[in-house]
Amino acid sequence: MKLADLPLKVKVKIPTGREYEQPTGLFINNEFVYPKQKKTFDVISPTNEESITSVYEALEEDVDIAVEAANAAYPRWSTSPPAVRAKVLYKLADLIDENADLLAEIETFDNGKSLMNSKGDVALTAAYFRSCAGWCDKILGNLINTGATHLNYTQRVPLVCGQIIPWNFPILMLSWKLGPVLASGSTTVLKSAESTPLSALYVGKLLVEAGMPKGVVNIISGFGNPAGAAIASHPKLEKVAFTGSTAVGRKIMKAAAESNLKKVTLELGGKSPNIVFNDADIDRTIQNLVMAIFYNSGEVCCAGSRVLIQSGVYDEVLAKFKKAAESIKVGNPFDPETFMGAQASEIQLSKILNYIESGKGQGAKILTGGQRCQGKGFFLQPTIFTDVKDDMKIVKEEIFGPVVSIIKFDTVEEAIALANNTEYGLAAGIHTSNINQAIHVSNKINAGTVWINTYNDFNPMVPFGGFHSSGIGREMGEEVFHEYTQCKAVRIKLSLPGTKL
Ligand code: NAI
Ligand code: MG
Repeated sequence: MKLADLPLKVKVKIPTGREYEQPTGLFINNEFVYPKQKKTFDVISPTNEESITSVYEALEEDVDIAVEAANAAYPRWSTSPPAVRAKVLYKLADLIDENADLLAEIETFDNGKSLMNSKGDVALTAAYFRSCAGWCDKILGNLINTGATHLNYTQRVPLVCGQIIPWNFPILMLSWKLGPVLASGSTTVLKSAESTPLSALYVGKLLVEAGMPKGVVNIISGFGNPAGAAIASHPKLEKVAFTGSTAVGRKIMKAAAESNLKKVTLELGGKSPNIVFNDADIDRTIQNLVMAIFYNSGEVCCAGSRVLIQSGVYDEVLAKFKKAAESIKVGNPFDPETFMGAQASEIQLSKILNYIESGKGQGAKILTGGQRCQGKGFFLQPTIFTDVKDDMKIVKEEIFGPVVSIIKFDTVEEAIALANNTEYGLAAGIHTSNINQAIHVSNKINAGTVWINTYNDFNPMVPFGGFHSSGIGREMGEEVFHEYTQCKAVRIKLSLPGTKL
């Protein structure tokens, strides 16, 4: 696309036949605007490898403009009555519901994930905004008693934020970022991922309809470099929240440290263990193993990518898991029966295929899958590796695709040691019918989330985030509001009649 040829709204036809108007500009001060240099980039559909549209790209100077908007909106929004903010969030949740089918189709077209998965994401998005609406008037300080001579209280002061989201759950990750901003009275500049910018821009349009004052949320499309890096190092942002790779997470933290020591939250990668004990309900467990690694085509930070199976049920679980993997419907993501759509980009597909080659090269055995699917689009078979060793790359590194390693163990202590043998600590799964065993193992595992007899099971009230190299800080629940506010302590010296100083 030539510079400046692209209108600020384009008609897009989704393969379902639906046509809609897609905003393409930067969403700043409640308007879609051209970036200064009017650069654009292509948005590719992973399903047919063709361009859906182009969108405008934010460069450093555009980030500055968006940051100005967020700062200008801060004084009024941060002191607005909570009910005003709740009203915007409730309305936004309703608008997400009303546009659920369209948003799910946009997401599937842009990301390649199955419509079944996109519909789930959109429902969770509405649910999270609605949950945040209820938090607006519950972000409380404390009254601290230090005796009659003083009155002390704390306040939670909102922040001017920058937020950078990934491409695996574009709209859902946007909701995890924007919900607490809107509820706490913070303001933000949010950058979508360069491979999936479409749903975020559409939400910009809905934010205006929801009655959000201008400048509170600004949404820009752009690359990690320069736009993401400009956010991380911006002197006029007080916080940066990032979801993505551990490698980029380190860069964000460094940029934050070297600029203005802004507050940092990071939600990064994982290599989560999913443990099956001899006494597990096997059929339910198989469903959980499938959800854990093949949901969203395996492009899930907390994917259960290391399955540890106790020796007594090893053969049975392996046979049933193989059968379940082979019966997964992979392909056209718009088919309502499809469980696994395409991988989100060619880069991601080739990264996963390289890991599969590395696994084979290091001596692991493929039980099923391992191949790219025939034809157009970035489709891959669900893949299970056995005969793996601790030091293999496929066991240590995050693959971020539908590829799982199976490891056999005998004792509970062995399972705990294997589970913790990772630099990450995002999530873990435990499958057992013995509650004491479940809690014992859960207590010993180093991870931000432990799922027992379930997996990839989220709720807006339950916090999510990582130990160790999986990140810093928590999203959702009450916890997130500590990340989107800072504490101010006020101590007042009193002179009350009859009080001794
Ligand atoms: P990435 O970490 O490069 O991208 C995530 C976001 O960070 C995007 O919005 C990107 O534009 C931005 N970004 C990239 N470089 C940046 C920089 N220097 N400063 C500021 N922002 C920057 O992830 P990528 O390259 O797309 O995927 C690579 C791997 O990362 C995946 O294979 C997967 O293992 C992991 N990943 C993990 C995610 C998670 O949810 N934990 C999500 C996406 C990727
Ligand atoms: Mg990248």
